[in-house]
Amino acid sequence: MALLYMADPIRGDVWRRMLAERAPELDVRLWPEVGDPGEIRWLVAWEPPEEPLAAFPALEIIFSIGAGVDQFDLKSIPPRVPVVRMIEPGIAEGMIEYAVMAVLALHRDLPAYVNQQHRRLWQPIPARPATERRVGVMGMGRLGRAVLERLAPFGFPLAGWNRSPRELPGVESFAGAASLPAFLARTDILVCLLPLTEDTRGLLDRRLFAGLPKSAALVNVGRGGHLVADDLLAALDDGTLSAAVLDVAEPEPLPPDHPFWNHPRIVLTPHIASQTRPESAALAVLDNLRRHAAGEALNGIVDRARGY
Ligand code: GLV
Repeated sequence: MALLYMADPIRGDVWRRMLAERAPELDVRLWPEVGDPGEIRWLVAWEPPEEPLAAFPALEIIFSIGAGVDQFDLKSIPPRVPVVRMIEPGIAEGMIEYAVMAVLALHRDLPAYVNQQHRRLWQPIPARPATERRVGVMGMGRLGRAVLERLAPFGFPLAGWNRSPRELPGVESFAGAASLPAFLARTDILVCLLPLTEDTRGLLDRRLFAGLPKSAALVNVGRGGHLVADDLLAALDDGTLSAAVLDVAEPEPLPPDHPFWNHPRIVLTPHIASQTRPESAALAVLDNLRRHAAGEALNGIVDRARGY
């Protein structure tokens, strides 16, 4: 009866220490020290293991270390083994910081000012009040809602777009494909916080950008696969979009010759917007193990049909 951790080894030590403190009875193994694979009941992983899951015949649950589970091929995981995405406060806090930073940077024209600085240009750009800068968040899950709540005090008119209807006080809500044009038409800064699924891959494309008001800006903190890179470059070049802040790319890491690297209106960070915090994530896994033992529903269970 063992739990196998299969990800970054340095953070793995924190996981092991946390789990040993809180659940000393748990047999925790850190990859590659698997021991007898027949004893592994729980797998905690960022990416799926290379060997077929059949190597772990007693496997009961797969815990994703990330909030997203698109890195797992859900179809290849036997339906009897639930996949659980990570829900823990560290991820949300990091995402709030990054998204608020990116929205404020775009709102206050920081990419343009950094550009001007490089050219030794002392030149104010007319400012726009927050009450006239409409921010729209795609994806009103836990992270999207948390970001919207923390953007509210700045005074931006806020909207959210979601697959199914979601209500949030002070936020204009749009749901489903039919309402996407109306959502885009009122959005000056678009934040993508969607899960990556067959439906959302490539959603940030030329057509979508054309639906935004002219010179809108983009923040992608979803996945690189949401964005059509060439369409973004074209939209920045022809003025459809003014700037983009990207924390994710496809592939990661982005190859050194990719045009995003030194594009003057793209700010690029290496998928660091939010990172799972091992201390709180280990507690989230323990809570789910307790729920499982008690026959209760797991927190964060992935719906295979939806893909998140
Ligand atoms: C990070 O991208 C995550 O899915 O948690």
